Amino acid sequence: MAEKKTFYITTPIYYPSGNPHIGHCYSTLACDAIARMKRMQGYDVMFSTGTDEHGQKIEKKAQEMGITPKAYVDEIVANFKKLWATLGIKYDRFVRTTDDYHIKTVQNMFEKLYNDGYIYKGAYTGKYCTPCESFWTESQLVDGKCPDCGREVTEASEEAYFFKLSEFGPRLKELLLDPEKNFLEPKSRVNEMINNFIEPGLQDLCVSRTSVKWGIPVTFDEGHYVYVWMDALTNYISLLGFMNDTYDDYEKYWPADMHVMAKEIVRFHSLIWPAFLMALGEPLPKKVYGHGWITFGEGGGKMSKSKGNVVDPFVLCERYGVDALRYHLLREMVFGSDCPYSNEQMFARINSDLANDLGNLVSRTVAMAIKYFDGTLPVEKDFNDSDNDLLEQLDALPDYVSDTFETMRFSDGLAKIFSVIARANKYIDENEPWKLAKDETAKPRLAAVLYNLLDAIRRVAILLEPVMPHTSPKIYEQIGADASNTTWESTKVRHGLAADVTVKKGEVLFPRIDIEKEIDELNKLFPAEEEKGKDLEPLKPLTKFDNFAALDLRAVKVLSCEKVEKSDKLLKFKVDDGFGERQVLSGIAKYYKPEELVGKTLAMIVNLEPRKMMGLESNGMILSVKYGDGYRVVEFDDSVLPGSDIS
Ligand code: ME8
Ligand code: MG
Repeated sequence: MAEKKTFYITTPIYYPSGNPHIGHCYSTLACDAIARMKRMQGYDVMFSTGTDEHGQKIEKKAQEMGITPKAYVDEIVANFKKLWATLGIKYDRFVRTTDDYHIKTVQNMFEKLYNDGYIYKGAYTGKYCTPCESFWTESQLVDGKCPDCGREVTEASEEAYFFKLSEFGPRLKELLLDPEKNFLEPKSRVNEMINNFIEPGLQDLCVSRTSVKWGIPVTFDEGHYVYVWMDALTNYISLLGFMNDTYDDYEKYWPADMHVMAKEIVRFHSLIWPAFLMALGEPLPKKVYGHGWITFGEGGGKMSKSKGNVVDPFVLCERYGVDALRYHLLREMVFGSDCPYSNEQMFARINSDLANDLGNLVSRTVAMAIKYFDGTLPVEKDFNDSDNDLLEQLDALPDYVSDTFETMRFSDGLAKIFSVIARANKYIDENEPWKLAKDETAKPRLAAVLYNLLDAIRRVAILLEPVMPHTSPKIYEQIGADASNTTWESTKVRHGLAADVTVKKGEVLFPRIDIEKEIDELNKLFPAEEEKGKDLEPLKPLTKFDNFAALDLRAVKVLSCEKVEKSDKLLKFKVDDGFGERQVLSGIAKYYKPEELVGKTLAMIVNLEPRKMMGLESNGMILSVKYGDGYRVVEFDDSVLPGSDIS
């Protein structure tokens, strides 16, 4: 068997100096969608992401918290991984710059470049803040003072190694202007790189420091640590095993097919990274894609929790579904431009594209197949020329989608898919199946119409799978498609479903969102800074310490939980209080499904006198905290034992 073609795609490796936010999601989602499509197309894919863990910023944050930099990043890296799992990101490798193999590669590469004369020792000069032990560039200073502590800075210099970037200007210019390669997209960035950086003359690049110690040690000069970009960019080859023994995939996957990132780091990827590789004598990546920024709040800018603009990706996924968020971000962002994020726009997209156009097409078609044919289409069908327009539009889709997705023009590709979905909805109106159903002799025509619709749904669902990997399989199940007719290749085939296909009614794919109500709800959950505390209960008067001491508060483990009949508020629990079992009731049925609470360790007042509610006895009170319009239980992790005292 011939070897599969390979495809290597990368996200930037993110700084774990703060938790991931929705901005980080875009590059990662885009890469995931492309990787998924390439896998469906039969490629052997390597999709990498990771974290860039060294440097001054992280060193300082950890110091402030009194923990080691590694302990600090470990926790944030876990959150990145959790977010990627939540978003359904199927990466093949996650590189951390603190991983041993990466450190090996960077050290070996540094030595080689030094031995080959591309790295030399010099002095780094800048503005230095002595109390902060930090160098700053002129542009980082605030009113000429240290941006961190506001004190005076002094001109200072330290020994440092430099990479001879200045030698690579002509070769980089040639690379950027090569019409065959189209190395950097969008094209507008090419001129920016040439005019702003290459033409004025590239400066040599500082690649080691002695004042920043949270980094990879230079092997042959104690006290020197590899500085920022030489460490970070090298991830793209260390994770393949270049100059290390941990992996052995370099020959197979390098050069990368595409590096994806936002515009602010295009310079490092399109100038410095190729220069490093030229100096090493290694092949260059095929493409660098620099997309725009997702901006937040009025007038763009950074993340904000201003009204109606909640953007915690975990909350968005939980409330509206992972695929809705994936679709929205990829549909809304036009490659190369910035894109403001707004919840309202996302809700409008969900309602119009996902609930109305796609969701309705699927549910109407399946419902008609059930109503008119008990779910199984007859083999005898009467196709005619009026079907051709829909079929031709479907035929043209796969190549267009493939082409737009792999060049980061998701918005165009998705818009086209949804225009064909709209065409299919129109096909229903044109053919009026409800009229055909009334005429016994029109059964073969009715079968053909429904079959065309089911098969159109099959073909668009396949194309949507890279973007909505959780939804497409649900659609396949409803329309009776299987593994044989949901491959990427099969999207090109007309009438790929079995002639006697059987459909199955399924859940609503995308429930409609009541936009006003939802925005209101989000504002309550995440109030703007100035709204915080507005709805809080006023504080109660002081009380004696004894009143508190009289209460017995314990951790309890939920053994079972069920709804109380005839009550829409009450849940009935059996809990383990450390001494035995007891029954307790709590009015939180609106906020939890009973099965969600089983196994949780909760906080409870255990010495309240028994009370009767709806004829059932409650022994104690489970503690909950107000959350938006509802409540959340106060809970502990598994390691807290039932019966443990809360004080
Ligand atoms: O720059 N809109 O890490 P970083 C779109 N460690 N994309 C965004 C975004 C936004 N608002 N915010 C972040 C670094 N991103 C270096 C990279 S690579 C060898 C080293 C995405 O945590 C986007 O991909 O600052 C951007 O380029 C990247 O996160 C910056 O991540
Ligand atoms: Mg190797």
